[in-house]
Amino acid sequence: MAPPSPRGMPCGPRLAAVLLLAAAAALGFGVRAGAAQLCAEYYDRTCPGVHRVVRRVLKKAHEADARIYASLTRLHFHDCFVQGCDASILLDNSSSIVSEKFATPNNNSARGYPVVDAVKAALEEACPGVVSCADILAIAAKISVELSGGPRWRVPLGRRDGTTANITAANSNLPSPFDNLTALQQKFGAVGLDATADLVALSGAHTFGRVQCRFVAPRLYNFSGTRRPDPALDQGYRALLSRRCPRGGDGSALNDLDPATPDAFDGSYYANLGARRGTLQSDQELLSTPGAPTAAIVGRFAGSQKAFFRSFAKSMIRMGNIEVLTGSQGEVRKNCRVVNGS
Ligand code: HEM
Repeated sequence: MAPPSPRGMPCGPRLAAVLLLAAAAALGFGVRAGAAQLCAEYYDRTCPGVHRVVRRVLKKAHEADARIYASLTRLHFHDCFVQGCDASILLDNSSSIVSEKFATPNNNSARGYPVVDAVKAALEEACPGVVSCADILAIAAKISVELSGGPRWRVPLGRRDGTTANITAANSNLPSPFDNLTALQQKFGAVGLDATADLVALSGAHTFGRVQCRFVAPRLYNFSGTRRPDPALDQGYRALLSRRCPRGGDGSALNDLDPATPDAFDGSYYANLGARRGTLQSDQELLSTPGAPTAAIVGRFAGSQKAFFRSFAKSMIRMGNIEVLTGSQGEVRKNCRVVNGS
């Protein structure tokens, strides 16, 4: 076994993984070699209580905010799609940082930052300078899904935090709720994820959480500039959404993403799609686009929550590997909102 590292357990890359990643890199995928260096045991010696601490803070936050588990799951996704899972989304504006928090997909939408601060503060108490903000996001997503009734997985750890943010990439890489299937697939493929399997499994995260009317209203009143509703939307569900989001009403009013079981992480998202009750255009596209390669997987997950859970866990691990910084790259921020020493 390799000698212990002051940073955490060494995550020895296995030869097969190294070869696979080299092949992926050669094909131009955005998965850096660092992914092979993540491992579930990373903090076993340097911060053995890390999961317990995160879970405690999350449960406390959930007492005041039933939506927080969904919001934290989304934060990890919005981090990983923009220059990799490096906690760049958490950096505030400063003389050297243009914060991603104000990019269109995040502004007045991404949430949960104070809870990440609370987790970081608790971890700095327990094991100062050890657990990265990027790993906090990955652990928080995993625990959030688990506490909502979803699958469990051993989350690979050892990410380091970046020292830059990229608002331009945040604006262009993150999928829009008005994207068609081709655009969604292109954005997943661009970060090295599978444009079919990972897209369908990860979209299942819309089984919990909320959505603002401004992301739904165009489907109700003016789909793709037609001045008509989205033909792929079930009439009964359209009537319900129209009551919640009246024409010209408050764009920030909230709806459940999953009308069946709003706060539970389960497989009902796929049954909703089958009933043409996907809340976002981008959700319904997975099934309703003619000839969609994603439709068969939607059908499989609608019939088996077990299959969805297994795939979701795998896809979350894959997403968590996007362009990670490891070893001596980046840093472990002391405060997730600012680069050290600034
Ligand atoms: C496939 C492309 C995706 C699009 C276009 C998309 C878009 C959106 C939009 C527009 C919202 C509502 C935001 C708001 O109203 O402020 C939302 C919420 C959410 N998204 Fe996605 N999303 C996508 C994929 C994902 C993925 C991959 C995950 C996680 C793995 C995820 C997790 C969530 C969660 C949990 C919420 C609810 C958040 C909350 O209540 O605070 N989404 N998404």
